Amino acid sequence: MKIAMENQFFVLLFMLEMFLFSSSSVLADDHISAVGDPGMKRDGLRVAFEAWNFCNEVGSEAPQMGSPRAADCFDLSKSSLVHKVTEAENRLGVGKPFPGLSPVASKNPDLYAAEKEQYLGSLCEVEDTPNPWHFWMVMLKNGNFDTRSGLCPQNGRKVGPFPPTGRFPCFGSGCMNQPLLYHQQTQLMGGGKMKGGFNGTYDLGADIRGGIQNISYFEVVWEKAVGSGSWVFSHKVKTTKNYPWLMLYLRADATKGFSGGYHYQTRGMMKTLPESPNFKVELTLNVKQGGGPQSQFYLLDIGSCWKNNGAPCDGDVLTDVTRYSEMIINPQTPAWCSPTNLNACPPYHITPKDKKIYRNDTANFPYGAYHYYCSPGNAMHLEQPVSICDPYSNPQAQELVQIVPHPIWAEYGYPSKQGQGWIGDPRTWKLDVGGLSSRLYFYQDPGTPPAKRIWTSVDVGTEIFISNKDEIAEWTLSDFNVILTSPRQ
Ligand SMILES: *[C@@H]1O[C@H](CO)[C@@H](O)[C@H](O)[C@H]1NC(C)=O
Ligand SMILES: *[C@@H]1O[C@H](CO)[C@@H](O)[C@H](O)[C@H]1NC(C)=O
Ligand SMILES: *[C@@H]1O[C@H](CO)[C@@H](O)[C@H](O)[C@H]1NC(C)=O
Repeated sequence: MKIAMENQFFVLLFMLEMFLFSSSSVLADDHISAVGDPGMKRDGLRVAFEAWNFCNEVGSEAPQMGSPRAADCFDLSKSSLVHKVTEAENRLGVGKPFPGLSPVASKNPDLYAAEKEQYLGSLCEVEDTPNPWHFWMVMLKNGNFDTRSGLCPQNGRKVGPFPPTGRFPCFGSGCMNQPLLYHQQTQLMGGGKMKGGFNGTYDLGADIRGGIQNISYFEVVWEKAVGSGSWVFSHKVKTTKNYPWLMLYLRADATKGFSGGYHYQTRGMMKTLPESPNFKVELTLNVKQGGGPQSQFYLLDIGSCWKNNGAPCDGDVLTDVTRYSEMIINPQTPAWCSPTNLNACPPYHITPKDKKIYRNDTANFPYGAYHYYCSPGNAMHLEQPVSICDPYSNPQAQELVQIVPHPIWAEYGYPSKQGQGWIGDPRTWKLDVGGLSSRLYFYQDPGTPPAKRIWTSVDVGTEIFISNKDEIAEWTLSDFNVILTSPRQ
């Protein structure tokens, strides 16, 4: 080809301009991530495990398992994985020392777990701006509550043992146990594939190598091809009669401060905390088995903590309130909110055009968009009728806004129809979580300055909420990212 010298020059200049123009607009819009590993693409994985009892504590450790915190963190160096956490460190449990352990935590399983998480975080920490980060967090929770144990406070207030109410599952003494946990440390396999995982059961004494018939089970396996694509996290959770209420999530938690559901220091993946309305969440989800009609599968769950007067949480469990908002995509999850059941609806809905619609406005309120709304048990100025959130399942009072697919959410990129994103419909989502969560109702005392809606955990997974038969949920998650967007002009 024959092109004059100056033509070539102008073509190059033009191409350079196009390149700069397109890359800067992409950067401005898309490339500022709140998480340490945007899109789960980093070969050197950081993943950790935490297990919680009914009120997000430990209670007592499972025999020989240590404290229910573990991590799998490594860097890829030439053609080997350099691990940062040993199995001995993963098995650390009450009474065993580690650097930084405080004397008061040494003998207390709840405090020990919180400090072990910080220790594992220090081993996994990756330097970054504006803050170092630690790991994705696999969170497993056992919903059994033994009311005779005296283990869980009521809206943050210590209460003694009380007789069973019939509301909470428990097969008897010991039902709030921590699980058996097994770890397959990540390995570099043939063909440049890396793979590792955690699995286990709540049935102490069971041998999971003999299969998972008749026992509870959980598993998270991660896989990635070196140098390309995303880590793919494959999850499985199985309930049984003895363990009918189990939760399994993969979370991006704050790297410091209180994370959703915590009242102690956390470690995690979010080096910058996203604030409504200025963030989006991207993820690829493939639901393979749903977990039955009681499986509240969260396409996304965001959690945070602020007080009823709008102030940030400070660890005072009597006035701190955990706030959660969840999009449940199991099409078998009904909208409990309805014109004849207003107590399950938030007092009002705000449209994308910022119009407020009261729940008594039966002609306009989108009842079908809300599964359930419940108010914090320590709120003093509630609008009747109300449904109060469960007072025992968090270390402090909580508030829940649970939504289901509905046309009203389409504008935010959320599912607009039941069945979207469910079994047989794997999708990559780009959710305007910031926009949506800026318009959800959350309780505040009248006349107080609006709380900053800064989120400390973003997670995906399911809560099988008391099944009457053994149920299995199975799904994969990849490409997870929390993207910071510029404030609207
Ligand atoms: C759980 O993991 C262990 C250790 O990696 C493995 O031996 C076992 O086969 C796994 N169990 C199941 C049921 O997959
Ligand atoms: C599982 O439980 C059922 C009913 O109790 C029993 O018939 C069956 O033998 C059990 N299977 C295993 C593998 O333990
Ligand atoms: C509907 O609820 C709002 C807010 O609670 C109240 O101000 C209004 O009077 C109610 N309207 C009707 C018709 O009950």
